[in-house]
Amino acid sequence: MEKINTGFTAYLQETYEIMGKIGLLLVSGDTGSSNVMAIGWGTAGIIWGKPIFIVLVRPSRYTFGFIEKKGEFTVNVPTQDMEEIVTFCGSTSGRDRNKFKEKNLTVLPAKKVVSPIIKECRIFYECRVVHKNNVIPAELAPDIPPDFYPQGDYHRVYFGEILAAYKNKQKFL
Ligand SMILES: Cc1cc2nc3c(=O)[nH]c(=O)nc-3n(C[C@H](O)[C@H](O)[C@H](O)COP(=O)(O)O)c2cc1C
Repeated sequence: MEKINTGFTAYLQETYEIMGKIGLLLVSGDTGSSNVMAIGWGTAGIIWGKPIFIVLVRPSRYTFGFIEKKGEFTVNVPTQDMEEIVTFCGSTSGRDRNKFKEKNLTVLPAKKVVSPIIKECRIFYECRVVHKNNVIPAELAPDIPPDFYPQGDYHRVYFGEILAAYKNKQKFL
């Protein structure tokens, strides 16, 4: 039986804790042009015999076009003290501002994908989109509040195969 690489599970507890407290940073693009946004929803597990990180991105986000074009993204787990940066990345659009520059975020090449990682973060997941689908309004349970979608901007759900998952040694001293 082919073994599934479950190395990514080592970092999930911390990833979920930070996601719940302040959010994570999702980057898509390439070394020449990329964008960062905050994400507060996501999960990781095993599907199709592969380690998968699932993220949900609304079509209105500038980042959406990057993921559609590149078919890749990185999930970057910030440190607690980066809350203000995450809030900024989650409330301004890369269409109008260079968020990396304004918040002194250093873009570094990733190992397995062309979408970069953010040096200041603690944990990284490099993902290749292997499936995507859309949230289907008619299939949402009645207890999911409609306030999530006042403008009908239903998320696209991206299933990213985790090609690499690792920590930033400098942040674990
Ligand atoms: C903590 C936090 C979590 C967020 N989570 C998501 C998310 O999971 N999916 C999403 O589409 N937008 C989410 N957002 C909103 C986007 O990050 C926000 O609209 C951002 O400005 C989009 O940037 P962009 O236009 O440069 O892509 C979140 C915002 C914050 C502050």
